[in-house]
Amino acid sequence: MTLLKKRVLVTGGNGAVGCNLVMRLLKLDAKVTVLDDFSQSTKGNLKNYKNLRIIKGDITNSKILQKIFSKKFDIVFHLAARFANEMSVHDPLEDLRVNVEGTLKILLESAKHDVKRFVYTSSSSLYGQSNFVTKKENSFPKPSTPYAASKLSGEFYCNAIHESYSMDYTIVRLSNSYGPYDPSGKFRNVIPNFIKAALSNKNLIITGTGNETRDFTYVDDVVNGIILAGTKSNGKNEVFNLGTGKETKISLIAKQIIKHTNSNSKIIFSPRRSFDHIIRRKMDILKAKKLLGYEPKTSISDGIKMTCDWAKQ
Ligand SMILES: NC(=O)c1ccc[n+]([C@@H]2O[C@H](COP(=O)([O-])OP(=O)(O)OC[C@H]3O[C@@H](n4cnc5c(N)ncnc54)[C@H](O)[C@@H]3O)[C@@H](O)[C@H]2O)c1
Repeated sequence: MTLLKKRVLVTGGNGAVGCNLVMRLLKLDAKVTVLDDFSQSTKGNLKNYKNLRIIKGDITNSKILQKIFSKKFDIVFHLAARFANEMSVHDPLEDLRVNVEGTLKILLESAKHDVKRFVYTSSSSLYGQSNFVTKKENSFPKPSTPYAASKLSGEFYCNAIHESYSMDYTIVRLSNSYGPYDPSGKFRNVIPNFIKAALSNKNLIITGTGNETRDFTYVDDVVNGIILAGTKSNGKNEVFNLGTGKETKISLIAKQIIKHTNSNSKIIFSPRRSFDHIIRRKMDILKAKKLLGYEPKTSISDGIKMTCDWAKQ
């Protein structure tokens, strides 16, 4: 499937991953509708582009969904979600409402209106803590936060709606996406928060020893993977890890950020957060490489440099 003139809905399209995805889809000549309630992202991430329609609304609001789905869509990229682990520990019921009820409502409307492919952005966090550092798609999921449980539940609903109403889906499990448009903030990711601290010469606080690892993935590579998931026939009704296949220590991230921002910040350590049980994690991406042709290209040093350069503007 090509994206030329395809009608595409992106829920959460104003968010950190979403706005990068939308800008790429527009470059590929898709006609894009964004549904976002702007609860977690700044208006203005997306400009008044040709072929882009932005609708402000909550994915759980049935009236808004009816209005949106009065137009046909070929592909739905469902990214809207309550983000993420720490926020879900504070408010698990709101997490359930948005990530589970919202996902089910978008799935049902999509199935009812003959969407050809439903792409669901799930999360590496659903693997939880286990003895294996490398997570394969068939590794047993063990969610350790309400967010991880809600993302896994969304995956189950994708399959249930497929079996019940014959709509094709593809699930992508994202892993620590970073890059331009990723906002800093109390419940947000480590990289934008470190960059914000470094740019004002404040201490970078590592919660743990610094030897903790994650599979940090530059947003352009994440977007490539999401688009492949929505367009490749090999991806139908499959689950894919999207990452780099490599582990990066949090201490290295902090050092790179200090270097690329020319900062006088110091790295200091505080105790690990109570909900954070996962010490090391990387994604096995062989399935996405083989079936989708996914190939992450950005090294961690290039990705951090590009993200710091964007934040400095
Ligand atoms: N960024 C990552 O590292 C990462 C990792 C794993 C999975 N994911 C998943 O990828 C998706 C995108 O992540 P992101 O980093 O862009 O998140 P984000 O928070 O930056 O973007 C989510 C967007 O959804 C919107 N939104 C939230 N609740 C909504 C609601 N009820 N109705 C309508 N819009 C709503 C927000 O305003 C925001 O613009 C999410 O589903 C997330 O669970 C992200």
